[in-house]
Amino acid sequence: MKSVMDHEPTEMRLSEAVARRVSCRRYRGEPVPEAELRHILEAARLAPSACNQQPWRFAVVRDDHLRQRIVEEGFLPGIQMNWALEAPVHVVVGMERTFLTHRLAASVSGVDYPWVDIGIAGEHLVLAATARGLGTCWIGWIKPRVLARIVEWPGSVKPVVVITVGFPADPPSDVLPVARRKPLSELVKWL
Ligand SMILES: Cc1cc2nc3c(=O)[nH]c(=O)nc-3n(C[C@H](O)[C@H](O)[C@H](O)COP(=O)(O)O)c2cc1C
Repeated sequence: MKSVMDHEPTEMRLSEAVARRVSCRRYRGEPVPEAELRHILEAARLAPSACNQQPWRFAVVRDDHLRQRIVEEGFLPGIQMNWALEAPVHVVVGMERTFLTHRLAASVSGVDYPWVDIGIAGEHLVLAATARGLGTCWIGWIKPRVLARIVEWPGSVKPVVVITVGFPADPPSDVLPVARRKPLSELVKWL
């Protein structure tokens, strides 16, 4: 059976998407086809999660008025993020907090697994978007309670990040992440 995640010839290889993904803060206004949005959401849906609890929730905000409210009311002050208004899609990524297994596991190991799960799902979405020529930017400087009200989530779902999605206004940058990352020698201990 054909899956929506089947490779398409126009898509970048994973290694290229990983190398080329950068935060996009300038977008062309044109809308993103719903099929493309479904494709990147499917990539997020397939992410692994602790005990397969899949705590992620997504609000796909295309409505102009709601996106304006997200930028004007849902972001914290101090960082200029009006550029996000240009992004035709805001994906609010939320975390369902009611799973008992999460509380039990965290009380034993001290690790709050849903945060890990949300990060994996979000980056699946981002890399799938990159591979299809879409620009994205993670935005964590948010007011979760305000965002929850804007997207009408129940109290059990906590917004964690917003990921902007759209076609980049600028051609792909020559300055790739590799130029701005710590070397492996600073990060890795080989045993
Ligand atoms: C969890 C998370 C939160 C972030 N929050 C913001 C944000 O609030 N505003 C912003 O402009 N960029 C934000 N970023 C983007 C980072 O600044 C960016 O990933 C980092 O500087 C590396 O640059 P690059 O993504 O272009 O490689 C965030 C990234 C992550 C992963």
